[in-house]
Amino acid sequence: MSEDFLPIKGMDHVEFYVGNAKQAAHYYRTGFGFTHTAYSGLETGNRQTASYVMEQGKIRLVLTTALGPDHPVSRHTYLHGDGVAVIAMEVPDAASAYAESTKRGATGAIAPTAVEDEHGVFRYSAIRCYGDTIIKFVDRQDYNGPFAPGYMAKNGGTGRHKGVGLASIDHMVGNVELGAMNRWVEFFAHTMGFSQLLHFDDKDISTEYSALMSKVMQNGNGKIKFPINEPAEGKKKSQIQEYLDYYYGPGVQHIACSTGNIIETVTQLQKNGIEFLRVPTTYYEVLEERVGKINEPVDKLAELGILVDRDEEGYLLQIFTKPVEDRPTVFYEIIERHGSRGFGKGNFKALFESIEREQALRGNL
Ligand code: FE2
Repeated sequence: MSEDFLPIKGMDHVEFYVGNAKQAAHYYRTGFGFTHTAYSGLETGNRQTASYVMEQGKIRLVLTTALGPDHPVSRHTYLHGDGVAVIAMEVPDAASAYAESTKRGATGAIAPTAVEDEHGVFRYSAIRCYGDTIIKFVDRQDYNGPFAPGYMAKNGGTGRHKGVGLASIDHMVGNVELGAMNRWVEFFAHTMGFSQLLHFDDKDISTEYSALMSKVMQNGNGKIKFPINEPAEGKKKSQIQEYLDYYYGPGVQHIACSTGNIIETVTQLQKNGIEFLRVPTTYYEVLEERVGKINEPVDKLAELGILVDRDEEGYLLQIFTKPVEDRPTVFYEIIERHGSRGFGKGNFKALFESIEREQALRGNL
């Protein structure tokens, strides 16, 4: 196998641009169990934006809001609502990642930059991804401050905070326009050296009304998985098209967070008021017949609404939240894997019917 021209250590963080970062931080803390570990804003000398770094397990979210109307963050939230603006990966060399990807056709967003403060040197660069989303390359090997220059530590600073048991980002899905999926598959393959993992055709992932096409791209070490969806023709409006209409373009659809104990995690999330999609109870009547023996009690899964799927390698448990903002755009998935490396293809039908019920309630079907 040829050498990985764009080595990636793993996900570094995901940055949301939001209308009110202070309130969003409260939601991620009390709802999803994140700990606020670093802050940048007026108090740290940042006159433009306020940013809250929220951590749980290895997951790091950054919530950023602009302090005035003319800032690009304001433009982003005006257009897209609250959404993912930056997908940041930790790399050994941000300048090389930029050079290698732009050489292969990526459009630069931030040229290689080094910022020095009393904690060391923080290096980064970025390229454009689908819609207004950017992919940021972060090199923090010579930096040991709180998150990044300009940030102050909060609540003991960065480190592993258990929360409700969310451990890491399993995958992150992008929605792109009809006909654009293969262009983005090619982007990840050619400019970033990813390879295609699985392919679901439109027949697999469609109900009577709503349909999509999806391909999964993963990086060289398999740590980063980016499925890409595009809408497919159906009798009624595709759920992907609904996202595109309300996000005003392509963007991140959902972030899947892994947990080692989905029953405990989802019990706590529901107690905290996080809302999940529900499937009909009939789903559980035929569950064991469909997936065989699993370690978890089916009545408990039914009570919480957790879904199960099995393939040749094992099984997985998963559940999806409703959108986490008023626009029907970004949502979360909670996933626990027992050998399976799939994405829950066997659940798509039940799930899409549930999504369509929600879409119909919004008058968008
Ligand atoms: Fe997913």
